[in-house]
Amino acid sequence: MRSPKDFFAPLAVGAPEPVREIPALPSRMIHFFDPGNEKMAAKVPELATKVDVLLGNLEDAVRADRKEAARAGLVSIAKATDFGPAQLWTRINSLDSPWVLDDLTTLVTEIGDKLDVIMVPKVEGAQDIHYVDRLLAQLEARAGLRRPLLVHAILETASGVANVEEIAGASPRMQGISLGPADLAASRRMKTTRVGGGHPGYLVRTDPVGDDLHEGRTTYQQDLWHYTVARMVDACVLHGILPYYGPFGDIRDVVACEDQFRNAFLLGCVGTWTLHPVQIDIARRVFSPDPKDVAWARRVIAAMGDGTGAVMIDGKMQDDASVKQCRVVAELADALAARDPELKAAYDKETVE
Ligand code: GLV
Ligand code: MG
Repeated sequence: MRSPKDFFAPLAVGAPEPVREIPALPSRMIHFFDPGNEKMAAKVPELATKVDVLLGNLEDAVRADRKEAARAGLVSIAKATDFGPAQLWTRINSLDSPWVLDDLTTLVTEIGDKLDVIMVPKVEGAQDIHYVDRLLAQLEARAGLRRPLLVHAILETASGVANVEEIAGASPRMQGISLGPADLAASRRMKTTRVGGGHPGYLVRTDPVGDDLHEGRTTYQQDLWHYTVARMVDACVLHGILPYYGPFGDIRDVVACEDQFRNAFLLGCVGTWTLHPVQIDIARRVFSPDPKDVAWARRVIAAMGDGTGAVMIDGKMQDDASVKQCRVVAELADALAARDPELKAAYDKETVE
C-alpha cells in the first residue's frame, strides 16, 4: 500500500515535485500531426497559432519503417519551433511495442522542457501508468527537468474501460483521458469498421402500428459511445483530471463530426482530437460555450445573488443547482475568453444585447 503522503513525493531522486492540480489550460482541440512527414512538419509553426494543442503522433498511422523518422522529426520540430501559448503533446508507441522505450528516453532527454503531456495508448490498468510514472521520473531527473511531464491515457481497451477509475487516479501526473473508439471497438469485438461516430445498424424503432411490422415505424440511430464517454467523464471528475473525445475518422462528414463532438461536450468533455485542419474550427465552435448560453448563464448567476434560494427567469425556475450549472458554463467561457480575444468579443456582445 502507498501512503497518500508518498503520492506527492518524486519517484526518483532529483525529479521535479509532482503537481497537485492539473492546469485547466484550453485544450479544445488536440491536433494530430505526423512529425516524420516533412510536408506536415513544415505547417507546424502556422498550425501552432490556430490550435490549443499540437500532438506529434508516433503511434498508429505511422508505419513501422517510419517510427524512427517520426521520433527524430518530433525532436527537431520541438527544438526549432516557438509554440507560443499552444501546448506540445506527443502520443508514444504502446507499452508492448519495441519503440516505446526509445520514444520516452529520447523525447524526455532531448525535448522534455518543450513537451507538456505524453499520451499513452492502449492503457489496460493502473499498472501501465505506474510503469510510465517511474520511468518518467528517472528520465526527468537525468535530464534535469524542473517541471514534471503530465500523462494522458487513451481509453481503448475493454480492460481499460473496466479499470478506468483506477487509471484516472494512478498518478498525480494524470492529466486526462481520451476515448479511442477504433481500438476500443476492436478490443471489445464490436462489429463496426469505423473510426468513431455512429452506425446505422445501432438503432431503436418505434412500436408497430397495427399488424404491419414495417409501415410507419420510425428508427433513430443511437450513440455507440454514450456509455463509455459518460463513464470516462465520471472517472475523470472523480480524480480531478480532464476527459476528451478522440478521433472522428470520416473527415468528409463534417456534419456528423460536429454532432459527435457536441455530444461529448454536452456530456462533460473539454475537447477532442482533430485529425485534419477541417476539424479544427468544428472543435473550436463546439468546445467553446455558445455566446447565447453564456449570456443566459451570466444572467442566472446575477439574478441568483448569493446562489441560494430560487428565482423565476422567463418562466423557468432557477435554484442552487441550476446556478451551479451556469457557473460551469460561465467559468469555462471566461477561461477561454482570457486567451481568445475573438471569443471574448462574442461573449461580451451577447451579454449587452
Ligand atoms: C485511437 O487511437 C483509436 O483507436 O480510436
Ligand atoms: Mg488507437
